[in-house]
Amino acid sequence: MRLLILINSLDCLGENDAVLSSAFRRIGYEVILGEINTIAADDYRYFTRGVLVPEDAEPYSPGSVAPWTRETYFLDECQLIWVLGSPQARVFRDIWRMLWLASRQTPFVNSVEGLVFLNSKHAMGYLVPKENRAFSYVSNDFSSLWDRYQQAPDQWWVAKPPNSGCGQNVFLLPQNGPNVRTILQCLTGNTVAQSEMDYGGLGGFMADYAILQKFIPEVAQGEKRIIVTCGKVVAWHGRQRHPNDHRSNLTQGGKAVPVDLNANEVALAELIGKNLMAHGINFGALDMAYPYIIEFDLGFPGGLYDTKLVSGVDRSDHVAELIIARFKKHFKS
Ligand SMILES: Nc1ncnc2c1ncn2[C@@H]1O[C@H](COP(=O)(O)OP(=O)(O)O)[C@@H](O)[C@H]1O
Ligand SMILES: [Mg+2]
Repeated sequence: MRLLILINSLDCLGENDAVLSSAFRRIGYEVILGEINTIAADDYRYFTRGVLVPEDAEPYSPGSVAPWTRETYFLDECQLIWVLGSPQARVFRDIWRMLWLASRQTPFVNSVEGLVFLNSKHAMGYLVPKENRAFSYVSNDFSSLWDRYQQAPDQWWVAKPPNSGCGQNVFLLPQNGPNVRTILQCLTGNTVAQSEMDYGGLGGFMADYAILQKFIPEVAQGEKRIIVTCGKVVAWHGRQRHPNDHRSNLTQGGKAVPVDLNANEVALAELIGKNLMAHGINFGALDMAYPYIIEFDLGFPGGLYDTKLVSGVDRSDHVAELIIARFKKHFKS
């Protein structure tokens, strides 16, 4: 059996690629790591540049360069494909379209439709019950966001982009904050200032979307990152924000800590895991400050590796077993 894991770069291996390729090799799978941004087609047969991880390869560390020979691998010669990378902005339309076409023939751990349409903060309203998400207002019009903010003068808010990550441009908005107008303008492309300055409107369309979301005070107690595989909770750790920042992202100084999950947290995570499975998403991460879900991450979510670091427990074998059990019946010999 051959598993192709599509990753961002062979020159900087990601944390999931490291733990998951080892787990699948332990079970006896052939694992190819292929670069998502090099997908191409030969008479409409899709291929990528990749490496075959040798059977006796030592486990490697995230951030290392894949030391093995680069070769060409056809997607239709693999039994299972796992997208654990994200296409670059310049090529994303080509890559997603070719991957979708490839997925007509070969099973994908996470469906292309799910990755394209649900891996965004827009999908919170669809996948998460109302009582488990904060009220959000989404627009690319500064003045309507500003009006909405002013309608609730006692409310603290967060403003953020719908399709970003690692805490980028996630702002905390206090009541009557003197920076709120400029933050909302900044997030929506500064359209008024830009059109004033470009003397006749040659500057192009600038109106980015922003989410204005009610602040969730439970976040102060810490968040839990939970990895869900085939609808089951498989790994988790806590994230405590740095005292100088309101965001708990590890890339912004948040700290991964060992935590327990209670039955309510498991039930909520598995409910969302089942909702994701209905759209072909069998692996993803959720950030929870119970009873709230902050967001989910389906692209190449961190969590398995950090859980191993903070608790010493490696859950990657369990992930591999669940995935294989789910896809067994689809495998072509
Ligand atoms: N509504 C909110 N209330 C409180 N804290 C929030 C809220 N939204 C985001 N945060 C904080 O900011 C962090 C980053 O926000 P998030 O929505 O997860 O964006 P990103 O995709 O950039 O990680 C969260 O992990 C959380 O600590
Ligand atoms: Mg986040």
